[in-house]
Amino acid sequence: MREGSARTPRATGEVAQDAPEREARMSEGRIEGHSDATAAATDAAAPVHVAVIMDGNGRWAAARGLPRFEGHRRGMEALRRAVRAAQDLGVRYLTVFSFSAENWARPPAEVQFLMGLLKRFVRNDLADLHANNVRVRVVGSREGVAADIDAMLDEAEALTRGNDGLTLVIAFNYGARQEIVEATRRLAAKVAAGTLAPDAIDADALRREFWSADIPDPDLIIRTSGEQRLSNFLLWQAAYAEFVFLPSHWPDFDHATFEAALAAFRGRVRRFGGLGPDSARTG
Ligand code: FPP
Repeated sequence: MREGSARTPRATGEVAQDAPEREARMSEGRIEGHSDATAAATDAAAPVHVAVIMDGNGRWAAARGLPRFEGHRRGMEALRRAVRAAQDLGVRYLTVFSFSAENWARPPAEVQFLMGLLKRFVRNDLADLHANNVRVRVVGSREGVAADIDAMLDEAEALTRGNDGLTLVIAFNYGARQEIVEATRRLAAKVAAGTLAPDAIDADALRREFWSADIPDPDLIIRTSGEQRLSNFLLWQAAYAEFVFLPSHWPDFDHATFEAALAAFRGRVRRFGGLGPDSARTG
């Protein structure tokens, strides 16, 4: 089990060039879940995979007297900024929670708007993403998804399959429990068919059946708008993820916000249940 309490700073002694700015942001309370100024001065590797819970579109709109739809529309613009920032900042995988398996419970007009927004995103941005060497992957259930959206998502994946830049993972109609249940069902079917021995089932065997089987676990999960929960997002894959909770709403997300989240990540010490890089020195 990973112990979160002993946050020993790494022994590199290196101070990242942007440390003063980063510390200023932290003291302004713009980064939550990170208050250790010593750890902030250490410099860990950049995260390979960043996953984002894009929360607060509705509250952003309400605070401005605008309809919720406008918050979602501005959320799509923030998504475009996030993709560009991920490319600039050397992130290899960016997963965005665009529609959860539970979001069908929203009013039909909002669900319809979100579906339209996804279609617009694929229609308007796919060529650009492809030109920028972005590989698109979609994770989630296709059950209940309209045929035209289903086809568009397949097309986006097919067109960009050969790209080797950023992988943009769109979690759409995604629920982590559903992903685990489906994977379990697939393993059970193999056992029933006699092609898999029950003893051969281990964590890797289950993982290989996930929608996200080809995607590494997230190193960092960012959630905007002050909520501190996972909401059925990447439950299995988040086992050793670092979390950064931002007080700002998703439509305000930009390059600087992304950089600040990565700076907070670099200050973390990841031990994966072991003793961490300082164990030799501390005995
Ligand atoms: C959460 O905010 C956001 C969503 C449920 C939808 C996220 C969608 C986008 C950012 C649009 C762009 C995405 C794609 C892929 C086209 P909320 O509505 O729950 O906000 P609230 O908690 O303030 O009400």
